[in-house]
Order: sequence, then C-alpha cells, then structure tokens
Amino acid sequence: MGEDRPAEDVANEEPVAETANAGVSFEPPPESDPEEFSYHTGTTHASKVPAAIEFIDVHKSFGRNHVLRGLNMEIPEGQVSMIIGPSGTGKSVCIKHIVGLLYPDEGDVIVHGQSIPSLPDAELFELRKKFGVLFQDGALFGSMNLYDNVAFPLRQHTEKSEEEIAEIVDRRMREVGLGGEGTKMPNELSGGMRKRAGFARSLVLDPEIVLFDEPDSGLDPVRTALLCELIKEVHAENGGAYVVITHDIMSARRVGEHISVLWKGRVVESGPAAELFASENPFVRQFLSGEAQGPLGME
Ligand SMILES: Nc1ncnc2c1ncn2[C@@H]1O[C@H](COP(=O)(O)OP(=O)(O)O)[C@@H](O)[C@H]1O
Ligand SMILES: [Mg+2]
Repeated sequence: MGEDRPAEDVANEEPVAETANAGVSFEPPPESDPEEFSYHTGTTHASKVPAAIEFIDVHKSFGRNHVLRGLNMEIPEGQVSMIIGPSGTGKSVCIKHIVGLLYPDEGDVIVHGQSIPSLPDAELFELRKKFGVLFQDGALFGSMNLYDNVAFPLRQHTEKSEEEIAEIVDRRMREVGLGGEGTKMPNELSGGMRKRAGFARSLVLDPEIVLFDEPDSGLDPVRTALLCELIKEVHAENGGAYVVITHDIMSARRVGEHISVLWKGRVVESGPAAELFASENPFVRQFLSGEAQGPLGME
C-alpha cells in the first residue's frame, strides 16, 4: 500500500484524534432529569443475531470515579460492531472487561456464553486465545522486527514449527499490505504501518473475536479510511465478531454494521447502523452528526 510515508506520518501523528469533537463537552444530564437521554436498561437480547459478547448491568468504579454505571450492551456474532462514545467515557475499560484484565464490581460480562469474571485463571488464559486485540499504536515490541512481532503469539501460545509459523506470518502480513516488510523495525514505520502490523499480529491465532481500541487515533482521515476498509475486508475474509472502539463518527459510518453509543458508562442506544443514524434520540443525533446544537453543552 502506498499510503505510508514515515516522514509525513510523523507530522500526522500528533493529537489529530482528540480534536474530532472539538468544542463539544459531555456533561452529565442534570440530576433533576436523569431520564433525559433514555439510557438503555435491563438485559438486552433485543437483536435477532446471537451475541458474541454481553455486558449485563456492569458497574465499575476506580475510587470515587464511577466509570461503568449499569452497562447493558450486546455485541452481535459475525458482524463488525462499533462502540462509539466521547473520550473518557469508559470504552477502553470495556475492552479490559471483555478480555478479563478488569473485573466488574457488579454485573457480568459474558463471552460466547461464558462468564468472564467467574472463570478460573487457567480457563481465562485459554479463552484469551479467542481474542485478537489491537491496542492503540499497535503496541509492538520495539526491539523486535516486524516478522518477530507478528510471530510472537504463535511462538508463545503454540507448538508450531518455525516453518509453519513463517507460512502464517507471511500470509497475515500480506493480508494487511505488509508483505516483504518483515525485517523492518517498528521505529522505521509510520503510524499506519504500525497499526497494520499490530492488526496482522492480532490475527495469527485465528481469533474468533477481534477488539480494536481506537484504531483511528493518530491517523489522518485518508489513512483512517484505508484502515477501516482493511478491517472490513479482513472481516469479510475471516468472519467472527469484530469490535471497533472509536470516538470518531466518520469511522463509525464507514465500518459499523452494529453501533452502540456509549456515554457516561452506559449505552444510550444500540442497534443496526442504519437505525442508529436515523435515531430520534437527541443525544444520539447530536453525537452522530457532530453538531454543536443539542443536549451536549458547549464548553
Ligand atoms: N486502571 C485504572 N485506574 C483508575 N482509573 C482508570 C483506570 N482505567 C481507566 N480509568 C478511568 O476510567 C475512565 C474511563 O477511561 P477509558 O475507558 O480509558 O476512557 P475511553 O472511553 O477514552 O477509552 C477515565 O476517567 C479513566 O481515568
Ligand atoms: Mg480509550
């Protein structure tokens, strides 16, 4: 792919992502009118598609910071889902609950019918092999070249021979447009290439669920669009449940088949993308259109 030129990318790495909703603040609704935004409540099971992941009335606090406040959310099987919400709303905290890096104070997180918080460590370790996780910036090991980075989960979790590993790594690197780049070191790569390398690494164990935490952060709109296309293509090829977390509305428009709008630790509305973009809910309308007018106040 020709979209990556490291010198240019460095200039584009800076805080682009945080300005997407510039000027709009996300204050909680006044205490006197808590139902103003008609939060999604109760257990879900509303969709026709079986759920890959379910949050059931999940509460999570850090000290006095009540982050998840009765989160009910269902991520359908076999689709690319978006969880969209402003920064600091608890999106990354959600991902950590899905993979069992954080546990709920109350409620349950179910993955393929198994309760993550009640799994013994050994079973959780097994279950984690189902997940591919793409953290911000790809989270590559700086001291390893791309090939070794992508091969790492296979060496760690399987007994495969180096020959078998090479076949998988080469295929996955080609799939994300990094064929032949295996000897490059992470610091020689643009932000977009690092993300694609992280994507390749997240795929090598044939995950049934792939989680992307703000894959668009630090990328300009063109590279974001290309990455979104890549996510769709790879999903079409491999299937499973893909969950893309973002605060960027344009990304949601591009990839999301199913969208959950998260705000202040709860889902305001969720459903098929077309329904969400036609929503009557004033918060959802304002947030998805990126407009200044609406229930979200100006700073
Ligand atoms: N391990 C942690 N310890 C304490 N506070 C945390 C921790 N992880 C997240 N938080 C807090 O939880 C809130 C939501 O964070 P996060 O999920 O990262 O937001 P975002 O939606 O931007 O991903 C923030 O106020 C953050 O400071
Ligand atoms: Mg986050």
